[in-house]
Amino acid sequence: MQQKATPDVLFQLEHVVKEYGDKVILDDIDLSIGRGELVTVVGPSGCGKSTLLRLVIGQESPTRGNLYIEGGEVGPPNPDRGVVYQHYSLFPNLSTLDNVTVNRRLALYPWQWRQSRKAIYEEGMAYLERVDMADHAHKYPAQLSGGQRQRVAIAQALIQKSKILCMDEPFSALDPGTREALQMFVLELWEETKMTIFFVTHDLEEAVYLGTRLVALSQYYTDDRVDVASRGAKVVVDRQFCSGDRAMSPAIKATAEFAETIQEIRLQAFDPSHTQHISEFDLSHPHSISIQSGPVHRSPKCLAGTLNGSG
Ligand SMILES: Nc1ncnc2c1ncn2[C@@H]1O[C@H](COP(=O)(O)OP(=O)(O)OP(=O)(O)O)[C@@H](O)[C@H]1O
Ligand SMILES: [Mg+2]
Repeated sequence: MQQKATPDVLFQLEHVVKEYGDKVILDDIDLSIGRGELVTVVGPSGCGKSTLLRLVIGQESPTRGNLYIEGGEVGPPNPDRGVVYQHYSLFPNLSTLDNVTVNRRLALYPWQWRQSRKAIYEEGMAYLERVDMADHAHKYPAQLSGGQRQRVAIAQALIQKSKILCMDEPFSALDPGTREALQMFVLELWEETKMTIFFVTHDLEEAVYLGTRLVALSQYYTDDRVDVASRGAKVVVDRQFCSGDRAMSPAIKATAEFAETIQEIRLQAFDPSHTQHISEFDLSHPHSISIQSGPVHRSPKCLAGTLNGSG
């Protein structure tokens, strides 16, 4: 099925429901992701964040509803959608450079690889330089730190020139210092490339710090349905944050406004005793879609704008 392509919308989920057996996991998700957005997705453990990411990649199909990329229906996984997971996706028996170029190599016949090997390795080195790993090109994964391996995994995804880079808890296994360094690295990369990033994390601080848009999924809400066996997660928060200076400065994490934002979202999405009615969801992003009333048109809450005194 084709959908009318809208130039600034890259990815669209339309009434997406995902069930496993008789359990509803994702309950009517409508989301429209613009080109160049850095979308962070948070929510309580088990609410369906990874399930949503697998739907975006095409590893799973929705029970109902549709997913579109550039107006065309999302099919099985392909290089359009690059992925970085928490646990390293590197082959232990390949060097850093071979890991970064492996997908290129696998797409070629041996004679084609022999012909283009030099150019592909040069390209691989350029991506390794971009993630500051060129000096480690000939090491094997076991000789790298966790943070270095994740940089290589990011280069492995970047070389595919994906339209959307999907990341599922990519830094969760790292120590706090390395994690913060890689958060800044992702922001720098995003500033440089303005690529569309779909970043799943259970860490609310990470989500507020990184995202130009924060989407919170939660199963803690009420609605007017009666006799519903199980309510799955919905988008209960969809906020826009400004990019720019604040993105580069971890100092923002120490501000009162940052702490307040986290507290608000924690209450809205993570607190089982705080169940908002669906009409009260915090859908202030300009492209938010209210399940009740269609597109919402409200002014965005802009964290950086407020910090800069302009919001
Ligand atoms: N293949 C599957 N078959 C059956 N149930 C599944 C399957 N995959 C996930 N689930 C269930 O779907 C729910 C959502 O899982 P998911 O992994 O998407 O959650 P999550 O939000 O990513 O959690 P976490 O924060 O712990 O990573 C869970 O209850 C999980 O047990
Ligand atoms: Mg998960």
